[in-house]
Amino acid sequence: MKKEFILITGGCGYIGSHVVLNLLNLNYSIVILDNFSNSSKKIIERIRKISNKSFIIVEGDISNRDILKSIFLKYSIKGVIHLAGLKAVGESEIYPMRYYKNNVNGSLILFEEMEKANVKNLVFSSSASVYGKKKNFIFTEDDSVMPQNVYGRTKLIIENILKDIQKSSKDWSVVILRYFNPIGAHQSGLIGENPFNLPSNLLPSVTQVAIGKREQLFVFGNNYSTSDGTCKRDYIHVEDLAKAHLYALNYLFKNDISVSIFNIGSGKAYSVLEVIRIFEEVSGIHIPFKIIDRRPGDISECLADPSKAEMILGWKAKLNLRKMCEDAWRWQRQNPNGI
Ligand code: WQD
Repeated sequence: MKKEFILITGGCGYIGSHVVLNLLNLNYSIVILDNFSNSSKKIIERIRKISNKSFIIVEGDISNRDILKSIFLKYSIKGVIHLAGLKAVGESEIYPMRYYKNNVNGSLILFEEMEKANVKNLVFSSSASVYGKKKNFIFTEDDSVMPQNVYGRTKLIIENILKDIQKSSKDWSVVILRYFNPIGAHQSGLIGENPFNLPSNLLPSVTQVAIGKREQLFVFGNNYSTSDGTCKRDYIHVEDLAKAHLYALNYLFKNDISVSIFNIGSGKAYSVLEVIRIFEEVSGIHIPFKIIDRRPGDISECLADPSKAEMILGWKAKLNLRKMCEDAWRWQRQNPNGI
């Protein structure tokens, strides 16, 4: 029987490289498709060094039909984990067309070529950004969706495209994972969050202050209705997030499903000031910060109810915020200028 592969789009990115490592550890055969628009080719060597395993790497964009056709012709793809996409919320508001073209149009072309190649098992990387505002801030998968930014809207459109495809073509099986706030890094410190330009996310900004690349952290507002006035988020270790993809694949291959949606979060929320305090404890480094105006589009709290993933996938986040900060700091220390 021909060897079966898992195709991972965006497999050299922050989330993707951690997913690839976890799959290689379980002896999956992997094909990575990555256009390296937001990842360094040096990550390939790092993945090889950590895993001591081989894998196929194809450089290209998910919207390149010829590349997709060649992959589906050459390799027997059992399932696709679709992670490729632009993901900076602030940037999505400035360049909406780029986000709709890359995320939505690119995904549509990928799905069309999957259909033609009769590849119909898919795990899709969605985001908690699809949810709207909610009184108690604890989101379940059945909550109404009302994305507050272009990035979140691209993710919701792709979710709906997948639901419509599966409705018309019943042999598609789709697992949608709604990520909350992925942070941290592989414990080796060899891979981690490696933004090409100034990070907008909290923890990479904190570690850049700690390493001396930034003078101080700007805290976007302390007049929210939270315990200390700063926003609360459900942070999840990227290793826990990566493992959720293994559980999703397992569920996909073992069950006859249509479209299943899961929140991938820890179910605990921490404020900006709490993250700073924990990081200072873990690193022993003082993080100077300045409270400035709120950031447009931020909501005060966002917290997952992850019970459905635990009940159905058997997945639960295990690593705590201290571990997230320890691993992020080790990555930043070992790679002061990223990869
Ligand atoms: C967290 C909190 C900021 C930076 C985004 C996307 C989400 C996902 C994760 C892709 C907020 C505050 C931040 C800083 C600060 N991305 N902050 N100073 O916005 O919750 O989620 O990234 O899947 O889809 O929306 O994450 O880390 O940017 O912000 O005060 O320098 O930290 O205001 O309250 P966010 P974040």
